[in-house]
Amino acid sequence: MIAVYFADFHVSQGQIMESISLPAGFEDIEAPEIRKWRYAEDTVRRVFGSYGYSEIRTPLLEDTGVFVRGIGEHTDIVEKEMYIFGDEESSVALRPEGTASVIRSYIENGRDKFSTFQKYWYMGPMFRHEKPQKGRKRQFFQAGIEILGTPLPSADAESIILAQRLLQELNVSGFTLELNSTGCSECRNAYRDVLKKELGDKLDSLCDNCRRRYKTNIFRMLDCKEKKCREIYEELPDILQYLCSGCRVHHDAVKQYLFDMKIEFEENRFLVRGLDYYTRTVYEFRHPDLGAQDTVLGGGRYDNLVEEMGGKPQAAVGFAAGLDRIIAVMGELKDRERREGIFLVTIGREAYDKGFKLVQELRDNGVRADIDYEEKSTKAQMKVADRRGFRLAAILGEDELEKNIISFRDMADGSQVDLPLDGFVGRISKVLKEVDEKIKRELQDS
Ligand code: HAM
Repeated sequence: MIAVYFADFHVSQGQIMESISLPAGFEDIEAPEIRKWRYAEDTVRRVFGSYGYSEIRTPLLEDTGVFVRGIGEHTDIVEKEMYIFGDEESSVALRPEGTASVIRSYIENGRDKFSTFQKYWYMGPMFRHEKPQKGRKRQFFQAGIEILGTPLPSADAESIILAQRLLQELNVSGFTLELNSTGCSECRNAYRDVLKKELGDKLDSLCDNCRRRYKTNIFRMLDCKEKKCREIYEELPDILQYLCSGCRVHHDAVKQYLFDMKIEFEENRFLVRGLDYYTRTVYEFRHPDLGAQDTVLGGGRYDNLVEEMGGKPQAAVGFAAGLDRIIAVMGELKDRERREGIFLVTIGREAYDKGFKLVQELRDNGVRADIDYEEKSTKAQMKVADRRGFRLAAILGEDELEKNIISFRDMADGSQVDLPLDGFVGRISKVLKEVDEKIKRELQDS
């Protein structure tokens, strides 16, 4: 059964006033945290672009069928986590992930038949009605890629290499990579029979969830976290023994690429992933500081999905990174990297009026700039400059006006320098741009 949240209900004024707070699992993101998000988003665009992917933006709402067919009827997402609106005739859902939407677009635009090879990237909010907890939200952000139209193991390897590069560029360290192959339909059928046979007489010793999954989605039993279930699954034969020769060669080739590229990974024969579309390669990057929800990025190959969603058969592979979790473990940005622009601290009316014009001039030159609108004291204005993450405070008072100078304080290290007032906008804009470029270069090289 699908959880249905109908939109056509009536809300009284009283109810609206009572619930003037965020629903559980949703959050506002603002300064100073937003700096990290912008840094992450800029990095995602730069890294995906540099590997030759083109951006695709699909709508936040799709026909519910896109996800039911795409993700699988017996997955947690489709069974109980989708936000669905509408009625019997037309039902739409907030997207719980990006892959099914990308495939819908690929098929709808005829790319499965004509320009078949495509490399897409996407980024944005996803929605799952899960029980909120640390690292698990109802609105969360993913950045992902999909490589469509190739069965080659080099594409699996590229997706993993790119995933690792993305995490590194996002200042994430200490993550681990787990890899498995779930085989093609043929191998899965063979292994399904093994699981049915091996587990059929042990159902009484398993948890309720596993007993249910035995009937609906037997592979998902393997990633159950319950101790009593784990002990039984440890005794099961390895899925890798049941791979057909094609799947075995593919899996070995992917591993060889990873060895060649010195990408460290561990094989985890219980890794099956929570979405039904995977075939052959599956992988997850985990981070030890995240607790129970420790997967920062997950992906794999899904060679049957395009056909299952009504297109011409096309092999595909991809991943999605969870930006909320990545930001939680991302190394702190250095103070200087977090800071941007100039806050004009003025003392006295004459300086304020002059400063007001200078701020507009700085903005015309592309510099983030602002000034006080609350008649705050000098000290309080300096605090605002710091709290709002400006890189420089430019101080202009009677003294400075008399000497025709303007004084700059670097908010990261407190150092101070005076510049001639005339023509400073052009000079400082140039310096700031150079500093930004230098920081970007340093980040790319590090
Ligand atoms: P997924 O494993 O469901 O895969 O999600 C990918 C990542 O999104 C997870 O590893 C996690 O970091 C993040 N994530 C998922 N649910 C939540 C949540 N409730 N709160 C916070 N973060 C979350 C997919 O979505 C596939 N579409 C990936 C893919 C693309 N496979 C092939 N292509």
